[in-house]
Amino acid sequence: MNILLLGSGGREHAFAWKMIQSPLCDTLFVAPGNAGMASIATVVAISPTDFEAVKTLVLENNIQMVVVGPEDPLVKGIFDFFKNDAQLAAIPVIGPSQLGAQLEGSKEFAKEFLVKHNIPTAAYDSFTAETVEQGCAFLSTLQPPYVLKADGLAAGKGVLIIQDLAEAQQELRNMLIGQKFGAASAKVVIEEFLDGIELSCFVLTDGKSYKILPTAKDYKRIGEGDMGLNTGGMGAVSPVSFVTDELMQKIETRIVQPTIDGFQKDGIEYKGFVFIGLINVKGEPIVIEYNVRMGDPETEVVIPRLKTDLVELFLAVANEKLDQITLEVDERSATTVMLVSGGYPEDFEKGKIITGLENVTDSIVFHAGTKFEGTDVVSNGGRVMAITSYGDTFPEALAKSYANIEKIHFEKMNFRKDIGNDLL
Ligand code: AMP
Ligand code: GLY
Repeated sequence: MNILLLGSGGREHAFAWKMIQSPLCDTLFVAPGNAGMASIATVVAISPTDFEAVKTLVLENNIQMVVVGPEDPLVKGIFDFFKNDAQLAAIPVIGPSQLGAQLEGSKEFAKEFLVKHNIPTAAYDSFTAETVEQGCAFLSTLQPPYVLKADGLAAGKGVLIIQDLAEAQQELRNMLIGQKFGAASAKVVIEEFLDGIELSCFVLTDGKSYKILPTAKDYKRIGEGDMGLNTGGMGAVSPVSFVTDELMQKIETRIVQPTIDGFQKDGIEYKGFVFIGLINVKGEPIVIEYNVRMGDPETEVVIPRLKTDLVELFLAVANEKLDQITLEVDERSATTVMLVSGGYPEDFEKGKIITGLENVTDSIVFHAGTKFEGTDVVSNGGRVMAITSYGDTFPEALAKSYANIEKIHFEKMNFRKDIGNDLL
């Protein structure tokens, strides 16, 4: 069958790499893709949120399944667009309905869902411009640090954690009245601060049954020792040693199961990935957020460890037959190290020629922000490429990624040299 994958990052390159290994996949189309995907699939220069252009592409190329990488098209309702269009209704979209995508699109919606279904989460309240003074008063009843979250999508920047009360109150005003994050901060969730180790749980669901995917940890800060600004993610490791069977059991029974049951109880159509952000507070997992997509760069270590055919998995999701599939996982560790543009996550330059890729051996290069300029591969984003390797242990895998990075060059290339150090 012909398949369309929407997105352009390392996550999508990892999906593409896996999907083309499937005998079920004839032609893989990717929109808009990147230089890495252009080498293995048919890339089409359309935006994933231009639904009419997606429709034309699908109909003209006899595409029989659409896999959605990023959250944007999901929050904008691509699942419902297909479902409600007579010509597209029979074509499955892997991703939640617009209602389901609100779990990521609105922090308040997510909090209400969590509370309603008795899923452990931090105490909270939410405020608007009209209730800003109540919000300031509420802050003064809490202990520092204060956690302020813009309700809507804010490109991963909408969460502020502040030590000082007066500063937190001022930031609340900036968000609600000063529109610090535009419309995304017209509403703000104020949340109890949770002190513990962060971890993520990745789930694939057909809306009724589910599969928990291999565990992964990402490294969000730009600097070594987890210092400096937040990024999309600088590297990842799978599996995560501190996630014991006991902890996983708690996550499944207290969080994953009630989440999927909640979809059914609330009539939320959900055929896709759920990425649950957790904080482990003294052995008790507590939800801090839902995302309605896979993590990036976690996908670049999770997908390589899946032995099961990904297209077969997606078909089972579409046909609500996920319960009939056994997930097979590679026992080896996988690690990935992200190469980024100098200056990222602040201002950076694009268009740097990337050399040495042909010398990489024993690692997989997943492109993120790259494109072709003639026959040159050039940088085209902050996160440029993820270098993934396998090993019997994660230090062994990491050593391969770092050895291959030595062979790759582009002007002002930057990467973290301490991925996984905290797990040693
Ligand atoms: P989010 O966008 O909800 O993932 O939040 C971004 C980051 O803020 C998370 O990765 C956590 O490091 C942190 N965070 C969010 N909520 C809390 C909380 N309630 N307590 C402590 N840290 C939090
Ligand atoms: N790596 C975190 C994310 O994808 O949101």
